[in-house]
Amino acid sequence: MKINVLTLFPKMFNALDESLVGKAREKGIVDLNTIDFRDFAENKQNSVDDYPYGGGPGMVLQIQPLASALKSIEKPGKIIIMAPQGKTFNQAMAQSWSTEENLTFICGHYEGFDQRVYDLATDTVSIGDFVLTGGEIPTMAMIDATTRLIPGVLGNETSASDESFSDGLLEYPQYSRPAEFEGKKVPDVLISGNHQKIAEWREKESLRQTLVHRPDMLEQKELTNEQKKILREIKREMTE
Ligand SMILES: C[S@@+](CC[C@H](N)C(=O)[O-])C[C@H]1O[C@@H](n2cnc3c(N)ncnc32)[C@H](O)[C@@H]1O
Repeated sequence: MKINVLTLFPKMFNALDESLVGKAREKGIVDLNTIDFRDFAENKQNSVDDYPYGGGPGMVLQIQPLASALKSIEKPGKIIIMAPQGKTFNQAMAQSWSTEENLTFICGHYEGFDQRVYDLATDTVSIGDFVLTGGEIPTMAMIDATTRLIPGVLGNETSASDESFSDGLLEYPQYSRPAEFEGKKVPDVLISGNHQKIAEWREKESLRQTLVHRPDMLEQKELTNEQKKILREIKREMTE
């Protein structure tokens, strides 16, 4: 996958030399191309921002440098703008983007973009209901979430399908050695070696985690009759 990023701070993306995205780049699965759109400004000062028409605080990113930078990309694929007013990024978006051959992210700064920049994009996406200084950190989060879903990136192919949000539920609790630490024990079933019982426990605990932490997700999900039965059992246990 080729990922282009239009940014005023290309060095921030050095963070993606590391960890899983770094490895995916080393393997040639992901090719990350950062473009400083200041290089495309057609004015003597190389400025990319100007005062807002109608007045008001701060500076606005002008359309010209961004439009020219986009035109320089042969195959941009989806063009994704970072903006607080966008659709909130989620696992389903990461899943769908992970099958694309090309993605292009646009990172804002200052007070944001000239409204006409949004017409150049296919998607406007937010990382959550808060305002950051620029679109670089949201873009890095989205690149990370998307890259780990590209086949061949995660060592164990099943680990992404088991993770939180992949099937509309949060992940079950995980434990590792030691089996007991300062009186806190790992649930017996997990050391029983009984795979059927372990799978049943994990399904129940995944439902419990979701009920406790994100009940809104259960409202969105079509539960099987078996899952509804398990949920009733969990609710009964919680009131006992
Ligand atoms: C300081 S913000 C601009 C905020 C804008 N004036 C507003 O009130 O909506 C500068 C840039 O950071 C990025 N940004 C800030 N918060 C974001 C968020 N929650 N999700 C995605 N991008 C964000 C956007 O690219 C935005 O153009």
